[in-house]
Amino acid sequence: MQVPVALQSLLVQLAAALPVALFAALHPFEITPPLWLYALVQGSVAALLSRAWRQPPWWQPLHFGFLPLAWLAQGAEVPPWTYLAAFVALLLVYWTTFRTRVPLYLSDRRAWQAIDAMLPAERPFRFIDLGSGLGGAALYLAARRPNGEFAGVEVAPVPWLISRVRAWLRGDRVSFLRRDYEALDLGGFDVVFAFLSPAAMPRLWQQAQAQMRPGCLFVSLSFTVPGQRAHDVVPLADGARHTLYAWRM
Ligand SMILES: C[S@@+](CC[C@H](N)C(=O)[O-])C[C@H]1O[C@@H](n2cnc3c(N)ncnc32)[C@H](O)[C@@H]1O
Repeated sequence: MQVPVALQSLLVQLAAALPVALFAALHPFEITPPLWLYALVQGSVAALLSRAWRQPPWWQPLHFGFLPLAWLAQGAEVPPWTYLAAFVALLLVYWTTFRTRVPLYLSDRRAWQAIDAMLPAERPFRFIDLGSGLGGAALYLAARRPNGEFAGVEVAPVPWLISRVRAWLRGDRVSFLRRDYEALDLGGFDVVFAFLSPAAMPRLWQQAQAQMRPGCLFVSLSFTVPGQRAHDVVPLADGARHTLYAWRM
């Protein structure tokens, strides 16, 4: 059974707190360690447990920092409403990340240049970025490809709004939709680009196979499709932390 990552993380935090709380209760030494030391030990144990459970790597610093930061915030007497404000701000940026398992992080110019080299040279085409974040990829390409029609679809409100404002300020002909890409028909696009997460790829591949027309291009940054050999693989950096994968449907 697959345990949802949010529940995993709760269990990791509790499991790491248990030995620390026991130690504090039993009080085996003469001297009493300071509270911040307990918080640091709990954070370290939580990070190790997260690693042992093979959670995605970004969870480790989150687990490490959670209790120490909570302890610091308590000491700083942060007004209670700031927690609510921070929660709402994070919600608007990350929205349903707990469901999609795709947080916001941005692709860069090197990736956009590599995508640019894959686009049709002269004939008209339609491009979409699935999970378009702040809109960087579509805006960059639209400025260079007058023969293309560009769109992005983004589920999180704040990134979507920022991409709309950027397109409006630049007078660009890029349309950004606020929607779940799963509700979209990919049949209307010649090039579909995604920079999501390993968790999203199997379902997205099924959607692309069911909807995209033969000969159209499906491009994924960093995350390949398990069991599907890409027709084109472009390493973007030394050590290839980022690689562009492309499939001709
Ligand atoms: C890793 S970021 C990539 C941003 C952008 N494509 C880029 O290259 O800079 C992934 C984005 O996909 C969005 N996302 C995740 N699942 C989605 C879904 N089902 N429908 C629409 N957007 C989604 C997230 O909110 C996040 O902003």
